[in-house]
Amino acid sequence: MEFKQVVEKRASVRQFAPDPVSADALKEMVRLAGLAPSVNNAQPWKFVCVTNKELLKKMGEAVHDKLAVLLPPSGAAQNRNKVEWFSTFFADAPAVIAIVATDYAAVVDGVLPEGLTHAQINEMRGHPDVQSLGGAVEHLLLAAVDLGLGACWLSGPLVAREELEKLLGVGQNYTLGAMVAVGKPAGPAQMKPKKPVEEIIEFRD
Ligand SMILES: Cc1cc2nc3c(=O)[nH]c(=O)nc-3n(C[C@H](O)[C@H](O)[C@H](O)COP(=O)(O)O)c2cc1C
Repeated sequence: MEFKQVVEKRASVRQFAPDPVSADALKEMVRLAGLAPSVNNAQPWKFVCVTNKELLKKMGEAVHDKLAVLLPPSGAAQNRNKVEWFSTFFADAPAVIAIVATDYAAVVDGVLPEGLTHAQINEMRGHPDVQSLGGAVEHLLLAAVDLGLGACWLSGPLVAREELEKLLGVGQNYTLGAMVAVGKPAGPAQMKPKKPVEEIIEFRD
């Protein structure tokens, strides 16, 4: 598919046909994600592809249980239900890719003055570690469209990060950074309205 078409067709997909996503399709998505730019080309990521239904169910339950503790029952029921749905629907997806991140060594770390830590310079530079993951996740989403699949970027489930990391067997030096639900869309993707370019562009000529 042509690049522009892929970008213009992408929309978050949360309802999927029961068809499985093949290991080859997941591998191609991850291959393309791995081509994304990253700070110092550190490629500080791994992509854990989950298609095991029992594991997905357990992951959904872990998020559900965490939300039950986190969100007081006094809160607006409609909003609680929305948060619950947006954070747990992934459990019914044919596949989920968990993006796990590890720390990176930056060139700047070698010239930091006394007292300025890696964490501080990372924050000053706008969290390049998080930015790097974002680039890779977008590649995953676009790759899904190109393969005739639909996907949704997920950060909501990360409220249960610790529990999910345990279930996924995430390695010691890795942290769960984002998840992507993937599958064949159950119906036509709902495109969200986007601001026109005139509204979001500024020039400094
Ligand atoms: C960082 C990030 C986190 C997101 N987390 C969730 C989530 O937890 N659950 C969900 O259903 N959608 C999530 N989304 C998808 C957004 O809701 C969606 O991108 C937005 O509504 C715009 O719709 P579109 O993707 O169809 O253009 C997330 C998107 C981003 C970029």
